[in-house]
Amino acid sequence: MKSRRITILFLFLILTMPIMVSAETAQGELSSDQFEDPLSRCQVCHAEIYKQWEGSMHSQAELDPYYLAQSLMASEETNGLTDTYCARCHTPIGVVSGEVPPVDGSNLSEIAKKGVQCDFCHTVTESDGTSNAQFTLTPDGTKRGPFDDSRSPAHNTEYSELHTKAEFCGMCHDVNHPVNGLPLEATYTEWKNGPYAAQGIQCQDCHMTPGITGYQANPGKASGIGGNREHIWTHFGVGGNVFMTEYLGSRTHADMAVERLQRAAQVNVIPRGSVESGESFSFDVRITNIGAGHYLPTGLTESRQMWLDVTVTDGAGTEIYRSGALDEHGNIDPGAVVYHTVLADADGNPTEKVWEAESILSDHRIPPKGEDTESHAFTMPEDVSLPISITAVLKYRSAPQEHINHLLGEEFEVPVVEMTLDSETIGDEDKRIPGFQITFPVMLGLLLLLFIMRGNKR
Ligand code: HEC
Ligand code: HEC
Ligand code: HEC
Ligand code: HEC
Ligand code: HEC
Repeated sequence: MKSRRITILFLFLILTMPIMVSAETAQGELSSDQFEDPLSRCQVCHAEIYKQWEGSMHSQAELDPYYLAQSLMASEETNGLTDTYCARCHTPIGVVSGEVPPVDGSNLSEIAKKGVQCDFCHTVTESDGTSNAQFTLTPDGTKRGPFDDSRSPAHNTEYSELHTKAEFCGMCHDVNHPVNGLPLEATYTEWKNGPYAAQGIQCQDCHMTPGITGYQANPGKASGIGGNREHIWTHFGVGGNVFMTEYLGSRTHADMAVERLQRAAQVNVIPRGSVESGESFSFDVRITNIGAGHYLPTGLTESRQMWLDVTVTDGAGTEIYRSGALDEHGNIDPGAVVYHTVLADADGNPTEKVWEAESILSDHRIPPKGEDTESHAFTMPEDVSLPISITAVLKYRSAPQEHINHLLGEEFEVPVVEMTLDSETIGDEDKRIPGFQITFPVMLGLLLLLFIMRGNKR
């Protein structure tokens, strides 16, 4: 009798444990036919939003060849331990409907292949917290969104505060190692600890409006058959990924990513001291993160690379100093500073495989509204011809070319984006108006005298 009661209690505990521990939708708990297709079921009435989402990295999150290659490698090297972990963010519908594993996509329904899509985001009813995709999905026909007064003939609607907050994005834009908890991607945390969160500026303000570095109103219609609204959130979901958006065929998204990168930072060349032939010459280059609400770069930072390409030329245009050039294989000059993170495995050796990562070997990036200064020095050639000019170009790419050659093959060329630049010319004083420093005060004095004399006449 007693033992039966204990068995029942034990059974009850086991059955309720997943509910007590978390409310998040479990692997295989739902079926993919409970979700509606973006093209055949949403596009009809939300054509504009559909066009913005199609071609975004959200729409490509599962088909992205870079992701596919890495998740297959992770699966092989961990005997499948990473399968549902990776896929929960890249094909959430694939995981909740039990179509992963396998990770090669061979068991995925057409809808699960559409990655982070309309009916994933708009059926989220709850979040157990940021990081590692702790979402609850309720595909009951009601679409959750930012309006508390919207009416649709096709579905119920419901206001959801979660959708209007960075915490919604933070479910997937903070990625921790599933075993040791190491933060692998920390975009949400970087934002949360930074100045933009303090001002109440959400991810949506920069990534879902025409404003790249802050909120910008976007009046329009949420649906072709709806009324006019003061603001409609856009669905381009653009970050810095020019590489994959271009490869997967969306010029619009690739161009928008370039523009976003070009508005993120400012560069200033600051010469130190004067130019003396045969002597040491030094200058600083300051990089300021003026536009990104998180570190620069952010996200997959063991792969992303930002660096300065610095050139100094003499009066004849001859290069006398260079740092940050690419060699013929597309490798960055080893003398240059690369802004990114380096992960280390259990032995402390650098690794690009996130599943092997046990610690962060280095993290050299620029915080939101923060800056970093690089110092450069070299010896001036003898008899250097003046003026000399210093140009610093800030560059970005989604991944090292060598890494991509290895993973995907050499036909994948990773584009290098010029984010911004600054130039300074020094040693050209002799070209200015002769004696300008003296003539200017004298002229000013004469003018003043003239005024006083005219005033006296009256
Ligand atoms: C028959 C046309 C029609 C179809 C099909 C349709 N919608 Fe809508 N939807 C509307 C209209 C109309 C509104 C209200 C717009 C407004 O209030 O300005 C709306 C509103 C919404 C909202 C806002 C809800 C809120 O309260 O903030 C979301 C989210 C949404 N739809 C998602 C979807 C998704 C996802 C699909 C596809 C699965 C879809 N809709 C299919 C017409 C449609
Ligand atoms: C990554 C998640 C995500 C995806 C994918 C997504 N949406 Fe949204 N959508 C949002 C969020 C978040 C908002 C509200 C933003 C806010 O209030 O700050 C929103 C707003 C809306 C609205 C309200 C009108 C507006 O634009 O402000 C509609 C309608 C809508 N989405 C439909 C769609 C449709 C249709 C698709 C697919 C083509 C789609 N969404 C894909 C997250 C998403
Ligand atoms: C289901 C998890 C999930 C949610 C929720 C989510 N994202 Fe994403 N997001 C992803 C994944 C996965 C990718 C990368 C896909 C790839 O590159 O293969 C991505 C890519 C992006 C990118 C493009 C990055 C680049 O390098 O260009 C931006 C920007 C972005 N998301 C912003 C947002 C914002 C803003 C929200 C909240 C409104 C949000 N995301 C919600 C999973 C998610
Ligand atoms: C003040 C505006 C602003 C805010 C707020 C903001 N971002 Fe960004 N985001 C940018 C800019 C500009 C870039 C391009 C530079 C870069 O790559 O960091 C960017 C890039 C990104 C990228 C691509 C990074 C890469 O290099 O691969 C992702 C992903 C992203 N943002 C997600 C988010 C999420 C999630 C939030 C909220 C937690 C957020 N952003 C808040 C402006 C913003
Ligand atoms: C908690 C959500 C989450 C999990 C889990 C996750 N990712 Fe991602 N992944 C993202 C987001 C968000 C981005 C976009 C970040 C950015 O643009 O910098 C991304 C981007 C990527 C990219 C870059 C794609 C490109 O085109 O540049 C690769 C590759 C990738 N993930 C592989 C993996 C692998 C392999 C795993 C499992 C070991 C994994 N991801 C697990 C959310 C996740």
